[in-house]
Amino acid sequence: MKTNLRAEIGRPRRRSNTRRTQQKIQNRKKEGLMIALKEGVQSRSSSTLLECVNLVHNALPELDLDEINTSTSFLGFELAAPILIDSMTGGTPAATRINGRLAQAAHEFGLGMGVGSQRAGLGSSLMAETYRIVRKKAPNAFIYANIGGAQLAEGLSIEDVKRIIEMIHADALAIHLNPLQEVIQPEGEPKFRGVLDRVKELSQRLHIPVIVKEVGAGISAEVAARLEKSGVSAINIAGLGGTSWAGVEQIRAEGKRVRAKARLGDLLWDWGIPTAASLIGTKRAVKIPIISSGGLRSGVDVAKCIAIGASVAGLAHPMLKHAAESYASLTHFIEETIQQVRATMFLVGAKDTQDLSIADYIITAPLRYWIDGE
Ligand SMILES: Cc1cc2nc3c(=O)[nH]c(=O)nc-3n(C[C@H](O)[C@H](O)[C@H](O)COP(=O)(O)O)c2cc1C
Repeated sequence: MKTNLRAEIGRPRRRSNTRRTQQKIQNRKKEGLMIALKEGVQSRSSSTLLECVNLVHNALPELDLDEINTSTSFLGFELAAPILIDSMTGGTPAATRINGRLAQAAHEFGLGMGVGSQRAGLGSSLMAETYRIVRKKAPNAFIYANIGGAQLAEGLSIEDVKRIIEMIHADALAIHLNPLQEVIQPEGEPKFRGVLDRVKELSQRLHIPVIVKEVGAGISAEVAARLEKSGVSAINIAGLGGTSWAGVEQIRAEGKRVRAKARLGDLLWDWGIPTAASLIGTKRAVKIPIISSGGLRSGVDVAKCIAIGASVAGLAHPMLKHAAESYASLTHFIEETIQQVRATMFLVGAKDTQDLSIADYIITAPLRYWIDGE
């Protein structure tokens, strides 16, 4: 009788705790999305350092612009251009429309796409719909699921990981590493002990490729080597120079009057490894395919990344900004970006992405210091 009573009292409390946690995650997602959209939180004093990568001009390309083939294959999937719409959203009602537009564009242009962290979709079928829309709109596109390394270390089960993969019939799983964000976020969980073991476990046990990604602070050569050894199929370096998660959390902390976190966010706003430095360091350290992202804002940026070692390039914030405006704005942006990739390929005499990957380039300082330490 006593036990039953406790169970009676206990059950609703557990349920409402879960509901409260879900609500908190949704609110956080919404705030992150709105801050990224309205405040345009980008790095302040650091850049990607792609301006230090100079592709060598070819005055005699011996090609017509319209002969150029931008298609590529990534992890066994065909893409019409070496571009991914990188992991962003889901888990808040506002995300459904944005994810729908992004996925529609991925389908229309033959690009790949990631969704945002799917933890919010695990506890609520309503929230799961904000991710499912992606597979509905892009039935054949290369779509990758997303979960945090911190959530894995916390004990998220392999069954739950399989559920998030199933939720969008994902072709790959991206595990994000975001220690910078977690240490500044007012409700952050800066607990990364055991992440690598979980990455290794998932790489062995899942039937789809595992990608490990940063979210804007970059991957060092040393971390890349450990990830490759753990069995991951690809690395998304997501370096410094674009969206700053320290910045997003600084603004959230300011709004919540968590002063110490706001100051920390201010101090670490530009923390990280610039995208170009992270990409070159990672390329030297590993043989697995690399996604370059973090601050890529044009097709010239994309082409430079392919030339210095990336298999494909990911863009997040610009895609979000245009998708939030309208579908037409998004497709116009993607079209123009692909044209810029094509024009850059023409100017280095690359008829396809294989040629682009061996194009000549010169590296100037300060990128040179990052990669050669001189
Ligand atoms: C609004 C927004 C939400 C994001 N959410 C996630 C996420 O849930 N999981 C993840 O791995 N990365 C997330 N990212 C990080 C991006 O995938 C990307 O690594 C980063 O923004 C750098 O690219 P960018 O400078 O082109 O924005 C998010 C980015 C933005 C702008």
